Amino acid sequence: TAEPLILGIESTCDETGVALVRDRELLADVTATSMDQHARYGGIIPEIASRAHLESFLPTMRAALEKAGVDLDQVDAIACAAGPGLVGSLTVGISAAKALAASLNKPLYGVNHVIGHLAVDELVDGPFPDHFVGLIVSGGHSNLLDVHNIATDVRELGGTLDDAAGEAFDKVGRMLGTPYPGGPHVDRLAQAGNKKAIRFPRGLASSKDKNAHRYDFSFSGLKTAVARYVEGLEQAGRQVPAEDVCAGFSEAVNDSLTAKAVLAAQDLGCSTIVVGGGYSANSRLRELLSARAQSAGLEVRLPPLRFCTDNGAQIAAIGSALVREGVEPSDPSFGPDSGLS
Ligand code: KG4
Ligand code: ZN
Repeated sequence: TAEPLILGIESTCDETGVALVRDRELLADVTATSMDQHARYGGIIPEIASRAHLESFLPTMRAALEKAGVDLDQVDAIACAAGPGLVGSLTVGISAAKALAASLNKPLYGVNHVIGHLAVDELVDGPFPDHFVGLIVSGGHSNLLDVHNIATDVRELGGTLDDAAGEAFDKVGRMLGTPYPGGPHVDRLAQAGNKKAIRFPRGLASSKDKNAHRYDFSFSGLKTAVARYVEGLEQAGRQVPAEDVCAGFSEAVNDSLTAKAVLAAQDLGCSTIVVGGGYSANSRLRELLSARAQSAGLEVRLPPLRFCTDNGAQIAAIGSALVREGVEPSDPSFGPDSGLS
């Protein structure tokens, strides 16, 4: 008998995603984004994002079904992101998922979007090892996870105490006048700069802080240091060396992320680090993590970029893992959980 067909729905932020997955095979993954409507405000406007989900949902779902060559009534279970994210955005996706589940009389799973960022890697690189460390970095999250089973046994080792890595990049982009979101622009500037020209502080450096916050990150002190440096030059009427500022800043962020990911893997005796989230696009993260993992004898699994930004495949992937592990569907009264841990 065929493996169950899972329909996944993503609507935590500005991306409306619908995907179809059978076991670990991705049949279709369609995404609509409202980012172009937010860019001129320099940040996501929740009301605009919610309305865009409402308008995009049916066209996105129809496109996914058509691409997969399946009918809605062939779907065996539905998964939707229950959090963390924007309440209004989540509500649109959850409402759609509940209506589908009720009308098709199929089980519904409200899942954790952040865990989905890791689960999607199984669709690309195959079944996970028995034990691995997850590093999830995006505009909204920066987490280290201890994973024995992606569906049933995920423990948070640590996370950011303040800004997420992508968020810090976006803020530095704003200081330097790049378009929103600044992350990719700051990355590009950093590649042209000298990463040793300006040394910015590392938050919660593991050498200084052996146990408390061993696996946590902090980027707000770094962000303030960059702001002071830029303001100091501006006030003195001197030109800001944007490339070198970005290179020094990027080095500080990526030094923390990669050192702690490798440290966690070594502490736990895992030989694999799985990376996810939109910030995984960062060129220096990829380079430094690969280099450090290689010297430590660790394998790094980095999914292609289209699976790193928010998408329906990550939700269908975790839904598929939950079904495979025989986990009970969600209580049908669940709602959006903006702070889901
Ligand atoms: O996962 P994602 O699409 O959305 C969230 O769930 O946040 O991540 C988007 C974040 C933004 O902050 C964006 O600026 C950042 O990831 N980002 C980057 C790069 N590409 C995207 N940050 C640094 N370097 C990049 N190349
Ligand atoms: Zn995300």
